[in-house]
Amino acid sequence: MISHKVIEKNSILMLVLTLLVVSIGGLVEIVPLFYLESTIEKVKGVRPYSPLELAGRNIYIREGCYNCHSQMVRPLRDEAERYGHYSLAAESMYDHPFQWGSKRTGPDLARLGGRYSDEWHTTHMRNPRDVVPESVMPSYPWLEKNELKVPDIAADLIANRRVGVPYTDEMIEQAAADLKTQVNPDADDVDGLLARYPKAQVRDFDGNPERLSELDALIAYLQMLGTLVDFKSYDPEQGQR
Ligand code: HEC
Repeated sequence: MISHKVIEKNSILMLVLTLLVVSIGGLVEIVPLFYLESTIEKVKGVRPYSPLELAGRNIYIREGCYNCHSQMVRPLRDEAERYGHYSLAAESMYDHPFQWGSKRTGPDLARLGGRYSDEWHTTHMRNPRDVVPESVMPSYPWLEKNELKVPDIAADLIANRRVGVPYTDEMIEQAAADLKTQVNPDADDVDGLLARYPKAQVRDFDGNPERLSELDALIAYLQMLGTLVDFKSYDPEQGQR
């Protein structure tokens, strides 16, 4: 055995042995990944975004919401108690780019869906201080005024399909219609929309049924965050029962 003294006095030997130890550690971590078919377990309920949710997500990215909000509940007790079940890898598998974020000036939004009413969101976006007096979040008053302009939502779906999101030809064909249907419960093809995107919430989101605003899309997105997986029937050992 080389005594530790000898190693400490010989920097080259120390370097060689360090590299050896580090590479063993690296191999132990990396090699198993080559034998796994997928590192993301399949989870029931996770589906691609509906066209309206996708448009809302694009606005979320455009406005830089990720600079202050994360979308990943870590598997730590305090986080799970505050936000709900920790995030599963599958829940962000259709996110391109992902929105895990790295900074929380505001709360995590991964389980936001259903926590507040649409009116709360409308007021909060117009001026956060109207509902949370001490808030430092910026106001986004233009979202409810701007008409939602998505010249080619089908192209958005196609782009996502190229990077692996399983949008079907039918979804792409119906994208423009689905975008409008989701804010109008009286539309013709609500059933079709729900068949394509189970659990999609269909209603006017921004309190103004007269027009389709950017806020409609953003709230549709915020209200579905973290709601797709039914955690009552989710077992971490078995996956979905
Ligand atoms: C400068 C940082 C900052 C930016 C940018 C920001 N927020 Fe916030 N957000 C906050 C803070 C701080 C809070 C907590 C106080 C409050 O509720 O207003 C918050 C709260 C929220 C909440 C309530 C969450 C909860 O669980 O109570 C939502 C929803 C939200 N933000 C959405 C957004 C959206 C959507 C955008 C982009 C359009 C955005 N935020 C941009 C800082 C920010």
